[in-house]
Amino acid sequence: MIARAIPVDPFDLVIFGATGDLARRKILPALFKRFCAGQMPAGARVIGSARSDLSLQEFRNLLTASVTEHTPQHVREPGMLSGFLDCLAYQRIDARGPEGWTDLAAMLDQDRVRAFYFSVGPSLFGELAQRIREYDMVTDQTRIVVEKPFGQDLASARALNATLASHFDESVIYRIDHYLGKETVQNLMVVRFGNMLFEPLWNSQYVDHIQITVAESVGVGGRAEYYDRAGAMRDMVQNHLMQLLCLIAMEPPAKYDPDAVRDEKLKVIRALDPVKPHHIVRGQYVADPDHPELGRGYRDEVGNPRSTTESYIALRTHISNWRWAGTPFYLRTGKRLVARSSVINVRFKDAPHSIFGAEPGQHSNVLSIRLQPNEGITLQVTIKEPGPGGIRLTDVPLDMTFAKALGPDGRDPADAYERLIMDVIRGNQTLFMRGDEVEAAWAWTDPVIAGWQSRGDVPKPYVIGSTGPADADLLMKRDERRWRGINP
Ligand code: BG6
Repeated sequence: MIARAIPVDPFDLVIFGATGDLARRKILPALFKRFCAGQMPAGARVIGSARSDLSLQEFRNLLTASVTEHTPQHVREPGMLSGFLDCLAYQRIDARGPEGWTDLAAMLDQDRVRAFYFSVGPSLFGELAQRIREYDMVTDQTRIVVEKPFGQDLASARALNATLASHFDESVIYRIDHYLGKETVQNLMVVRFGNMLFEPLWNSQYVDHIQITVAESVGVGGRAEYYDRAGAMRDMVQNHLMQLLCLIAMEPPAKYDPDAVRDEKLKVIRALDPVKPHHIVRGQYVADPDHPELGRGYRDEVGNPRSTTESYIALRTHISNWRWAGTPFYLRTGKRLVARSSVINVRFKDAPHSIFGAEPGQHSNVLSIRLQPNEGITLQVTIKEPGPGGIRLTDVPLDMTFAKALGPDGRDPADAYERLIMDVIRGNQTLFMRGDEVEAAWAWTDPVIAGWQSRGDVPKPYVIGSTGPADADLLMKRDERRWRGINP
């Protein structure tokens, strides 16, 4: 199978915060890959903007290293890098003052899509938005891209939305949740709504429960200051896990269109029940005394010996609607766990009566949607154990690992940022969060956080390289269920 990359029209993309970590690790490598794939045309312009006083050559040098480091050799064609560097420009600007803005405005082409990527902290969103207006840079082809964290609670998210709304229409605002750009996340919708097989069973009558796991083996790395203020609930659950929950639980939209999809996701978030205190387990990683070489514990890593921020969270929630009444959704995510593995498991109910005399709960169908690594879908099916001597049951996977099923395209799916940035240029908002979605997600998250703050809960320790705190297993055990393993 051959990947089809339909080239987009030449565009101007201004990246504010172009010398920052996100731009160097994700945005520019993603653009380079789209350039190599022939989707980003040679006439496109990527204008880096930041406070640093860099010459164009210095900016190009800065990027050459990171772009090559974050792009696998096999996708690079010889000579591509110099072609890509020719698309780059640099303009020093001061977000808080007038410096550089007139020059930036003069660089932009009137007749093409112009996107402004706010790869900066949210405290600068307002000032950037205001200057884009003030320097008359808004055309009818303007798009604004903003990154998470989009607020730290409902009040701050509302304030950010209000700031953006005072300068731009919602139809031009692209709020990134990079999980929505992942290949298998989109496949969730196709598997559900492109097949007849699953949808009739996709409800509380047939589904026992759903588990969403996003496990990371990395720690907080260089983001200690941000992370210690945020924690796993704000950093991962409010956005990435919430989006996965929406896609797995939503009603079929009438069409694959930005507002139709986002309306359905919003209904899911609004139907979420508050989380009960005994349905939440928070954890914090600690060093393994037997294996100190595995790394420092959370508190050491963030330099805050009394931190009560969670690096792990597991919770059980419900969606109060006709489809899902009675089906629990279990969410868990954490850092420094045994492996990097993001999987959604849909556990179907047992057959109502076993004619083979199997114990209830021993055999079941589980649909596992693996987001990363090793993207693919597996359906666990119960069959007869081979051989003579009566019927014994065993469970085997029907395995659709994309790398096997789809060849090279399945092996190296495009990075989320590649897809999302091209969608910005094409003007497709389907994979971006709408303002009301973000606010609804915070409205659900805030009381959960306020609850543990008022109770003075302290996260449970878990050892680096484990599957998380033991209490998370108890959360399941109490419901006579168990987590599926976290496997690389
Ligand atoms: C980010 C979080 O949004 O997602 C990080 O801020 C996390 O803490 C990252 O590590 C995970 O993304 P991915 O694509 O590596 O699963």
